[in-house]
Amino acid sequence: MKIGVLKEREEETRTALVPSVVQRLIKELSFEVYFESGVGEKAGFSDDDYIQAGAVLMNRDESLELLDIITIINPFDAPFQPNAKKTVISILNPLFKTKELQNWTNPNWTVFSLDMVPRTTKAQAMDVLSSVASISGYKAVIKAAELYGSVFPMFTTAAGTIRPAKVLIIGAGVAGLQAIATARRLGAVVHVFDVRSSSKEEVQSLGATFIEVEGAAENPDAGGYAIEQSGEFLERQRALIDKYVSEASIVITTANIPGKRAPLLIEKSSVEKMKAGSVIIDLASEQGGNCALTTDKQTIVHRGVRIVGDSYLSRELAQTTSQLLATNYFNFLKHYKQLDAISRFEDPILKGSMLIQNGEIVHDRLIPLIKQEVC
Ligand code: NAI
Repeated sequence: MKIGVLKEREEETRTALVPSVVQRLIKELSFEVYFESGVGEKAGFSDDDYIQAGAVLMNRDESLELLDIITIINPFDAPFQPNAKKTVISILNPLFKTKELQNWTNPNWTVFSLDMVPRTTKAQAMDVLSSVASISGYKAVIKAAELYGSVFPMFTTAAGTIRPAKVLIIGAGVAGLQAIATARRLGAVVHVFDVRSSSKEEVQSLGATFIEVEGAAENPDAGGYAIEQSGEFLERQRALIDKYVSEASIVITTANIPGKRAPLLIEKSSVEKMKAGSVIIDLASEQGGNCALTTDKQTIVHRGVRIVGDSYLSRELAQTTSQLLATNYFNFLKHYKQLDAISRFEDPILKGSMLIQNGEIVHDRLIPLIKQEVC
């Protein structure tokens, strides 16, 4: 089987396959691996590294037709019309970017999106969301520390004592927990909000204080995820968050609900109570943001408070993130190769992540969304 890794769009720094994983694809899974020149450049991998690993340099236009499987993180905007069957493995955020799925209607396309792999124990090694979120959570704290005008830990000096930074983290999922651990290592005092009661113990075990808002709705069938809260709950939550935001120097928000707009948890009036020099990093910005002032892909300053809207901070640590993502891709491909053609369509991991089969949208969570788009 021939597999290729394609160069990403301009703003992307990460790559779907790194040289060490290329080597494993060849040795352990008997793939022939092709790569496009410059594919790993922004992540610190040269063409030579790929060649040393055993991959073959390809010219995109001439060689695409050769490939059976194409790996890429961001799907290309205008897919070409293949003359033979192709499988694409990508990360499409399809519950949000439903419209873009209409690009793949050529009957030769079959498309998997690794962010839709079910979050079961068996599929943990393929979980790209966890890979990206843990790096983003870490980087959010490092970025905040760079932008913040003071220090994180308590400083006792001959010139006086500096009190530790107060960090507020909203959402204690994968990114939030990594942010808590990083902020605690830097010596900050950390307060945390989440709506899942199961996150309380995890937060406390990292040395942070969990702030509970009574009456959060939970659903044991939501696969460990949060569900949408009532307007009345969110109003009470925002009122309590207001108190902690006004006392915090750093706020990191990560709150998301799969397939929905991110909950709006910090109002403009709360930001205006923060001291000048404070920093908000909104990792939920792509899904609408948790802060009313967030502008996606931009840093704005409002009354001296810097608000960074960036759901792609993992791009600033491209080498490590690519290594993790490439391992997720490898584990997915290994699983895919172990199954025969019939069981592939019954397997829960492949079924959960297959969006398009032979040009047709087949995912049961997407079919109703596509119907809404059409109406
Ligand atoms: P996510 O990115 O969808 O959400 C981030 C966090 O925001 C979650 O902790 C969520 O509870 C929280 N949140 C949502 N609405 C909120 C609100 N109004 N106020 C405060 N917080 C709010 O979730 P993520 O980080 O991808 O994963 C969440 C959970 O999923 C994990 O903690 C875990 O339980 C489960 N999971 C399971 C895995 C597995 O079994 N393989 C792998 C990864 C996650």
